[in-house]
Amino acid sequence: MNYCIGIDVGTSGTKAVLFDEHGEIVATAYREYPLYQPENGWAEQNAEDWRDASFAVIREIAEKVPPESVRGIGVSGQMHGLVLLGEDDRPLCPSLIWCDQRTEAQVKEICDKIGKNKYIELTYNAPNTSFTLSKLLWIRENHPEIYRKAKKILLPKDYIDFCLTGHFVTDVSDAGGTGYFSVKNRTWCEELLEAFDIDPALLPELHESCDNVGCLTKEAAETVGLTTSTVVAAGAGDQAAAALGNAVLREGDMSVSMGTSGVVFAAVERPIHDKDGRIHTFCHAVPGLYHVMGVTQACGLSVSWFKHTFAPQLSYRELDEAAGQVGSDGIVFLPYLMGERTPHLDAACRGSFTGLSAGHTLANCYRAVLEGVCFSLKDCYELIRELGLESKNIGVCGGGANSPLWLGMLADILGRDLVKNENSESGARGVAVLAAAASGLYADVRIASGAMTPASLVSVPCDIGKTGDYNRIYDIYRRLYKGIETSRQMQNL
Ligand code: XUL
Repeated sequence: MNYCIGIDVGTSGTKAVLFDEHGEIVATAYREYPLYQPENGWAEQNAEDWRDASFAVIREIAEKVPPESVRGIGVSGQMHGLVLLGEDDRPLCPSLIWCDQRTEAQVKEICDKIGKNKYIELTYNAPNTSFTLSKLLWIRENHPEIYRKAKKILLPKDYIDFCLTGHFVTDVSDAGGTGYFSVKNRTWCEELLEAFDIDPALLPELHESCDNVGCLTKEAAETVGLTTSTVVAAGAGDQAAAALGNAVLREGDMSVSMGTSGVVFAAVERPIHDKDGRIHTFCHAVPGLYHVMGVTQACGLSVSWFKHTFAPQLSYRELDEAAGQVGSDGIVFLPYLMGERTPHLDAACRGSFTGLSAGHTLANCYRAVLEGVCFSLKDCYELIRELGLESKNIGVCGGGANSPLWLGMLADILGRDLVKNENSESGARGVAVLAAAASGLYADVRIASGAMTPASLVSVPCDIGKTGDYNRIYDIYRRLYKGIETSRQMQNL
């Protein structure tokens, strides 16, 4: 039997999953690491924590099977994070990660220099605080001594690929999230690199996600207990990887990911984009394919923030049970804890509970948090529909999909039946599929996907009666955003 490993370098931790050649899960391992928030709206992690966690989880699962039977490794990761390596190939500073929102001034600079419309024309995305470009400019302006020492600019999963293979590489699905990449042409955007004086030599080599980018180095192989014949695929950004793991590969196929961030994703054959840049357009992890996606910054992040802040003694299951017995009873939660991307592209807005009364309980508030995140996902879904995309099936993945209460609520709020793939581990599965193609185990990604993505779908029906009630709250939710100007001013107090 042959095996492939998929790694998902997430925001809460890194997971590795060992799949056999039919896509059966043989073993999983997980390691957490800290997220640092030194100031309101800032978010940093240490790239070396990702490396240590990745090596530890690979080692833990690799020992379950003969080392030479592990044909390939694929890495997916949180997108957009800035990893700057120095001459000694070590990170020069903590990574500013995807949800860091400190770069509003740099986004303004990008708009002033290039013009928002021109930037969208070049990249198919609007300038925003999450993308790598604004983070790079922030470091250059605030820590020029660090920028001067930089030898390579990598994304989170690229750093792991480097630790495994010794090569500086990236893939087209993740590169779109840098903000200096032409999605339409699947190449770096020379015009932007020139305009912002970024030396192309700082960038890693570009690949399609399923390319073989090298084998494990001797040192990496020894550390993780594998051999130097294990191939590493270029890998993919976490959203494209999860979509591949859910077999979202045809125009109009749609999925929702309920991870730390929340994403509504649709595969498209040609790159289309919203003219105002309210959603992203990126390359898919399959050669020739593209996708659009809307992102809510704080999906699982809102839920874990609420639990850890207000109910650390309760488990998520206990919170779900309590929230399942009550309504939100007039409370509306805006999940803008880390600003918001789709549809507002607003780094400075912040979350709120509205409608609280002295009679409300923890359970009412928790329910409002779950609903608020679903409303935000509905914002993403409606925008994708505005682009003319509609799907027969919407697959759901991510940790949040393990909550039947939340999943049912999402179906009711979107007004759509959903399907959950019981095989789960979508992100790791997607990159294991890439590894299977890169290592030659299967002829190409689509064939590998067909072989390694057995469908075990559970349907989550929508109760259309509840959709009507939720639509009334959604209308209020939409209007509340306009009223949060005050919360913006409060940040400066
Ligand atoms: C996607 C995004 C997040 C991160 C972390 O644009 O910012 O989904 O990739 O999961």
